[in-house]
Amino acid sequence: MANIIDGKLISKQIKDELKEKVCELNKKGTEVCLAVIQVGNDPASTVYVGNKKKACEYIGIKSLAYELPEETTEEELIQIIEKLNQDDSVHGILVQLPVPKHINDENIINAISPLKDVDGFHPASVGALSIGKKGFVSCTPAGIIQLLKRSQIEISGKECVVVGRSNIVGKPMAMLLLRENGTVTVCHSKTKDLKAVCKRADILVVAIGKPKMIDASYVKEGATVIDVGIHRNENGKLCGDVDYESVEPVAGAITPVPGGVGPMTIAMLMNNCVESVLQEI
Ligand code: GUN
Repeated sequence: MANIIDGKLISKQIKDELKEKVCELNKKGTEVCLAVIQVGNDPASTVYVGNKKKACEYIGIKSLAYELPEETTEEELIQIIEKLNQDDSVHGILVQLPVPKHINDENIINAISPLKDVDGFHPASVGALSIGKKGFVSCTPAGIIQLLKRSQIEISGKECVVVGRSNIVGKPMAMLLLRENGTVTVCHSKTKDLKAVCKRADILVVAIGKPKMIDASYVKEGATVIDVGIHRNENGKLCGDVDYESVEPVAGAITPVPGGVGPMTIAMLMNNCVESVLQEI
């Protein structure tokens, strides 16, 4: 029987800690402010953006909502970002991805000042992470480190296997585990004998985007299993990249889907917004 890592509870703790920090900042006359930009009306993006605004409200962060039409040009979007870069009352800028096809997302990410890059996607933020310098860290992997630390799961010296090499999760996850002195292996679609590599892991982070792909045969007895995936099956039920029913009896600790990694992403976004202010003070 695995310990269930309760991301909902841990994210609530983090948000409550942030609420106190924001309250202290307010007393000193600083209002924390996040600008959230959505271009077009992709339904999933609208849900994500809505959840981000709700988290801001809960913590006491001001959110500036930019709901731009689908036809917005890349130049227009960059102009808005540049204005927000210059605005001292704005501490974080987030452009919800994906943007419409006629806009190059790399140009958009590059336009955001690294000082306000609360998503941690700017090349300067990514570079800082890889050389151990200060900078914003991508929210999902940062949230996973918090889940491990707040569940008293030691990372130092442990075999950490990350399945998936995306810029948003897999790569920064590997960097963060390395920063915590884990011994890190990154697996991907060309990895030979994925099962054998996963089975070495004390900490297995799965971010492959394939429903229930990782079953008990990939997991060492007592390992910590972190599931980044989120999928909806034919019956409308949510599941992850990990086959929870199969893995739970073997693992030492496991994140459920939903209620594991998911809630941590927004909590860490809020954390980055507050950090953005604290760096200035
Ligand atoms: N789209 C899906 N996840 C994210 C995220 O974490 N940040 C942004 N900006 N867009 C996303």
